[in-house]
Amino acid sequence: MHKAIGIGIAAALLAGFANATEPVTDADVVATMKASFRERGIAKMDRLEQSDLQKQCSTWSGKQLPPDVKASLEKAAMESIVYPADNDYLGDWKEGEKIAQSGRGFQFNDTEKTVAGGNCYACHELSKAEIAFGTIGPSLYNYGKLRGGPTESVLRYTWGRLWNSHAFAACNHMPRFGAAGILTEQQLKHVMALLLDPESPVNK
Ligand code: HEC
Repeated sequence: MHKAIGIGIAAALLAGFANATEPVTDADVVATMKASFRERGIAKMDRLEQSDLQKQCSTWSGKQLPPDVKASLEKAAMESIVYPADNDYLGDWKEGEKIAQSGRGFQFNDTEKTVAGGNCYACHELSKAEIAFGTIGPSLYNYGKLRGGPTESVLRYTWGRLWNSHAFAACNHMPRFGAAGILTEQQLKHVMALLLDPESPVNK
């Protein structure tokens, strides 16, 4: 039984290769993607256009990023970071928890006015009370405690991470919450408090 299925799959694969006389190019892939997507609500086709950074990261995906490319992407990302003008980094961790929990915003069934969330739990463990979390990013449980509290350098590093994570790792998968205009400065301050306030469940 298994053997028969295996032979069937092998035959199908061979047939596929036999038909593919020309190698598949990047342009073929883009054309196929564009043909299979359609705009819906606020989600327009321009989402399929890659930024320069995305192009570079796709080009080098699975390979060692050349040091000069890595340095220039990280430099550009670092220069995009806007620190809070009032030098006040910490909002209310309770608001931060709501933002970390929310995956709303920029979806086809959202509107321009939908307040976006950070969806942090999709990729990170944060507080122990929330047991549904993804593991694409490292656990942030005890983040503030492990960093030794909200010193100036920890505040600036964490803010920079949230604003544009590519400043610290050119081709990583964390959204650019500040640089891409996903979260407002005030929302970022609340998320900062979630990570760094000693009273936050992240540090309990
Ligand atoms: C799509 C997945 C994804 C989402 C969503 C995401 N992150 Fe990340 N995050 C990552 C990845 C991956 C890394 C590690 C990047 C690297 O390789 O340096 C990271 C790194 C971090 C770091 C640095 C950790 C350290 O020890 O230096 C912080 C802080 C952080 N994320 C906070 C957040 C917060 C807060 C949110 C929500 C506002 C969030 N992340 C949303 C994927 C994500």
